[in-house]
Amino acid sequence: MTQDAIAIRGLVKTYPAHAGAPEKQALKGIDLSVPRGSVFGLLGPNGAGKSTLINILAGLVVKSAGSVSIWGFDQDRNPRQSRAAIGVMPQELNLDPFFTTRAALEVQAGLYGVPRAQRRSDEILAMIGLSDKADAYARTLSGGMRRRLLLGKALVHSPQILVLDEPTAGVDIELRQMLWSNIRKLNRAGMTIILTTHYLEEAEEMCDEIAIINQGSLVVRDSTANLLGRLDAKTMVIHPETTPDMLPQGDGITSELRDDGAVALRYQSRSVSAEAVLAAVRAAGITIRDVKTEEADLEDVFLSLTSGAHGI
Ligand SMILES: Nc1ncnc2c1ncn2[C@@H]1O[C@H](COP(=O)(O)OP(=O)(O)OP(=O)(O)O)[C@@H](O)[C@H]1O
Ligand SMILES: [Mg+2]
Repeated sequence: MTQDAIAIRGLVKTYPAHAGAPEKQALKGIDLSVPRGSVFGLLGPNGAGKSTLINILAGLVVKSAGSVSIWGFDQDRNPRQSRAAIGVMPQELNLDPFFTTRAALEVQAGLYGVPRAQRRSDEILAMIGLSDKADAYARTLSGGMRRRLLLGKALVHSPQILVLDEPTAGVDIELRQMLWSNIRKLNRAGMTIILTTHYLEEAEEMCDEIAIINQGSLVVRDSTANLLGRLDAKTMVIHPETTPDMLPQGDGITSELRDDGAVALRYQSRSVSAEAVLAAVRAAGITIRDVKTEEADLEDVFLSLTSGAHGI
């Protein structure tokens, strides 16, 4: 148990009825553990409960039931230690417009009781690429710069765990790459990273382990590799020299003619070899002009596990 960065048991959050809206059970009893040193992705459709879970970890939302342990410290019994172990970059841009960039970092460090001599504001400013904006007021920063400042604020007390709630939503490609290279560096230096993202390619590339939640419940939690392996469906797409007279047939192979004239052959790569698929193509008298394969990606896994949900 002490090996876990985060251990969550039976976590429930019910938002009370408010202004005519009925009460909402946003988390319905989540059990989840996050190993130390991992990059862990928390995925799910809009409204699944991701931010609620993260805000409970951050101490910004009070849970209704269950237990949360952060770096081995129970959130209720050891609030100070558990809070010190985690830094959270929230989804909302909640910056005080009247603080300069440097002041925002200093105030945050003060809140966490980091002694002046141990503050790393300059180092953090350099890391988030805002050294030249150190004395600029938050209200004069662009949206992307504000996001970077939020990342900086999450790091002032050198937490063991960094939590990022949609760090790259709406940011340009350059900033996204900068954020990811920073996050990789922090992880290599030993920091455990937990993030939510709606960019599944990003999750596929960045995360060792992934949990998917849907409507307040955990749907799956597995290594990224295992999740991708669950959908073993492959598609070989053949562009024939001429329109085929017949479609290829074979055990475990389904073929269809696409609108662009390509023949798509679906098969399970565990039980059917690529050679068997090609043999079926040749048996149908098809001469191959071009061929490519399509593999299941995280998006297929996500959709198959959260079907019925809207948007990702
Ligand atoms: N303060 C609140 N009061 C009442 N209901 C809330 C509150 N915050 C969130 N909810 C509801 O709880 C559910 C989960 O919301 P949450 O923000 O955790 O989802 P999410 O997975 O982060 O979604 P997104 O991908 O859109 O960020 C939603 O139905 C939302 O409407
Ligand atoms: Mg959210």
